Amino acid sequence: MFITFEGIDGAGKTTILDGLCQQLTDKNVPFCRTREPGGSSLGLALREKILYAAEKLDSRSELFLFLADRAQHVAEVILPALKSKMLVLCDRYFDSTLAYQGYAQGLDLEELRFLNAIATQNLLPDLTFLFDLDVKISLKRVHGRQSNTGEIAYDRFDHETMLFHERVRAGYLEEAKLNQNRYVKIDASQPLEDVLANCSQILWERLAQ
Ligand code: TYD
Repeated sequence: MFITFEGIDGAGKTTILDGLCQQLTDKNVPFCRTREPGGSSLGLALREKILYAAEKLDSRSELFLFLADRAQHVAEVILPALKSKMLVLCDRYFDSTLAYQGYAQGLDLEELRFLNAIATQNLLPDLTFLFDLDVKISLKRVHGRQSNTGEIAYDRFDHETMLFHERVRAGYLEEAKLNQNRYVKIDASQPLEDVLANCSQILWERLAQ
């Protein structure tokens, strides 16, 4: 089974993934946790370029870096893991490209769907968790996280305007409507332990089917 985790920055995906992976480990369920960008060794090099490039990337060139990351990731990591019957949990996948490069940056959605299909060899997730919350709360969380650790770890996307993040959020909500068979919307404004309990219940129900 292939499960993806999507949402605006600061929605809590990573913390929830930590919690779910702990439960899977405790119950001896074999799984592969991975992410985009950066889920393969080529992807790690691309991630640096995409997120921390000194120069302003043209939006199409950025798109092709995300797609190259994805193509390598699917071929090298995700498909082999699925073939060996592992559960795959992926932090972001092609819906991120639709939300960020499509709905937010204005690249053509149908062209993006076509390119995503090529990059992924048509591999669709079985289940997509969408962590949905108010943009103001998510940005507060992102900034809180950085001041707690004392690190300055802003990537270029964190600097985008509020409006940009609103568009990302609206894009995800639209995709969730169009793909109700695989999307599950999670209210990520709840306390994180409630969000985790919610996701955990859904995950274990799916695994039992
Ligand atoms: P990351 O540090 O992984 O963010 P997060 O913890 O929020 O997942 O950075 C990934 C950034 O790249 C994030 O802002 C979303 C963006 N992104 C795209 O714009 N398009 C894509 O296809 C993907 C996979 C990510």
